[in-house]
Amino acid sequence: MRATATAGSNIALVKYWGVVDKALRLPANGSISLTLDAATTTTAVHFDPALHADAFILDGRETSGEILARVSAHLDRMRALAGTDIFANVESSNTFPTSAGIASSASGFAALTAAGAAALGLNLSRRELSALARLGSGSACRSMIGGWAEWLPGTRHEDSYAVQIAPPEHWDVRDLVAVVSQERKAISSAQGHTLARSSPLFAGRLRQVESTLPVVRKAILARDFHVLGALAEADALSMHSIMLTSRPPLVYWRPATLELIHAVQTWRAEGAPCYFTIDAGPNVHVLALPETAEEIQTRLKAMSCVSRVIACGPGPCPVVRPGAPA
Ligand code: DP6
Repeated sequence: MRATATAGSNIALVKYWGVVDKALRLPANGSISLTLDAATTTTAVHFDPALHADAFILDGRETSGEILARVSAHLDRMRALAGTDIFANVESSNTFPTSAGIASSASGFAALTAAGAAALGLNLSRRELSALARLGSGSACRSMIGGWAEWLPGTRHEDSYAVQIAPPEHWDVRDLVAVVSQERKAISSAQGHTLARSSPLFAGRLRQVESTLPVVRKAILARDFHVLGALAEADALSMHSIMLTSRPPLVYWRPATLELIHAVQTWRAEGAPCYFTIDAGPNVHVLALPETAEEIQTRLKAMSCVSRVIACGPGPCPVVRPGAPA
């Protein structure tokens, strides 16, 4: 009744922004990401008949309210599959700041799904695990897959899950996460997804994503960094235009975000291959190749607006261990 899992966050190169079914987290479009090795969540789940309620401890702190309710709702889904009503104690820790535009919900719900399913002895396929993780957090379905992943949007619960485009060892691309703020964001992604459609630009974005997906898939398979980087950058800006033009508008950027965007563009113009992408927060992810990653990391660290750089490479699918954490 106990298991522990470690799952990597992922960085979307073609973003998920907007849902067609809020409860089922069916996305408005397909998305592509890279699962990360150094931004991970480790979660221990213990279903214990002595408990009278679920408990969720995140980074050493007991949670309550909405955060606990979201974890509990996910445990309910797994309990329903196992035909049990035993409560669980869940302990989770992240190697990166929670809720600042690094997808902690992706690694969090991937780790919770992997550990919970193992603790309950659920015999689920990778596809079923991915779809299940999606119900907790959309982007978590991609973190159930190692390396380069694509979320097939689907139209029902069963056919909305992620598949692997290529394993982590296919291509070593680095994601240097320049952390500029560790504040929790005011508007969650879950709220943002329901606002996307209020943007007059949304229909245009969906058309653009449709034509971008196959080109990004091909660029990954061909290891074409410039095509991948340029499209990832364009897609991040496209998603942020939806955020900026939804009602109410969502402005996740800080002055430091813009400073980093300009720095990356300048370095690239000077010959250093690097591209940026940004999730629902102020932090900037800088995509780089291994041969120049160290130099770019040094430059990022030298910027006064950057408090920390988390250097990530391609990561595996969740790693599950039976029993309590070591
Ligand atoms: C900007 O997966 O966090 O990171 O399904 O409500 O949990 P929920 O949203 P979430 O949204 C991620 C949005 C994004 C883009 C992406 O990862 O594709």
